[in-house]
Amino acid sequence: MKNRLIVVVFLSLFSALSWASSSAVLDHMEPNLADKASLQKGAKTYINYCFGCHSTKYARYERIADDLGIPHDQFMDNLVFSDAKIGELMHIAMPEKSAKAWFGATPPDLTLVTRLRGVDWMYSYLRAFYQDASRPWGVNNKIFPDVGMPHVLYELQGTQILDCTGNHNDSSHETCADLKLVEGSGALSAEQYDEVVYDLVNFLHYMGDPSREQREALGIKVLIFIFIFFIAAWFLNREFWRDIH
Ligand code: HEC
Repeated sequence: MKNRLIVVVFLSLFSALSWASSSAVLDHMEPNLADKASLQKGAKTYINYCFGCHSTKYARYERIADDLGIPHDQFMDNLVFSDAKIGELMHIAMPEKSAKAWFGATPPDLTLVTRLRGVDWMYSYLRAFYQDASRPWGVNNKIFPDVGMPHVLYELQGTQILDCTGNHNDSSHETCADLKLVEGSGALSAEQYDEVVYDLVNFLHYMGDPSREQREALGIKVLIFIFIFFIAAWFLNREFWRDIH
């Protein structure tokens, strides 16, 4: 029993350390759930570019429309392309078996992906595709080496290449770290592309925990209540003990 405990502690320490070391190369982003415009743009990018392969089957269209402040009819016209009803869960039509045959791996459900990977990982991953002729889709990824997913935002970002200058001894993916954008190869500038990815990851962050904003707002109200109650209780306590001392 004791040995098992030691192994568990050791393994969790080890995994914490490996997460810490792998996060060293990640770019940071600060999600903002109050920015409804960002969440709406993110939802649009998600539906247009990701939802063909990835489901978000633990979320309902209706909840998203309500939380993001999009009227139901507008949401159905612009963001639901199947015959799904607004109250339905966000399933996709692609059968898992065919997806595995096409891509070598089944595209995982993305409802909770930011909870698992973290927003920094997602933000970095979607900006880390680069040209690699040896891979089936002609691209590889610095954050997720040999990933089975094509660079679906390619038309927006354009071509990135691994820039190995200054590092000729070792051209492995990890050490040959820097990516260079071929100017003008995508529809957007680097800053605009970062913004699109920011909004998308912001939306997926919301999706991973849709009640976070309400919960945090409620938490502040509860703390204010406890504070006011404490003052009242303190005066009451003083009043009670006044005649005894
Ligand atoms: C053409 C199909 C396709 C589209 C479209 C697509 N993906 Fe993927 N995605 C995949 C496949 C296949 C994998 C599994 C890759 C692997 O495990 O090697 C994957 C994996 C991922 C992963 C890694 C998940 C994990 O934890 O292992 C993330 C994150 C992801 N996709 C996000 C996105 C986002 C965001 C979009 C939209 C911008 C998107 N994908 C669009 C096919 C797709």
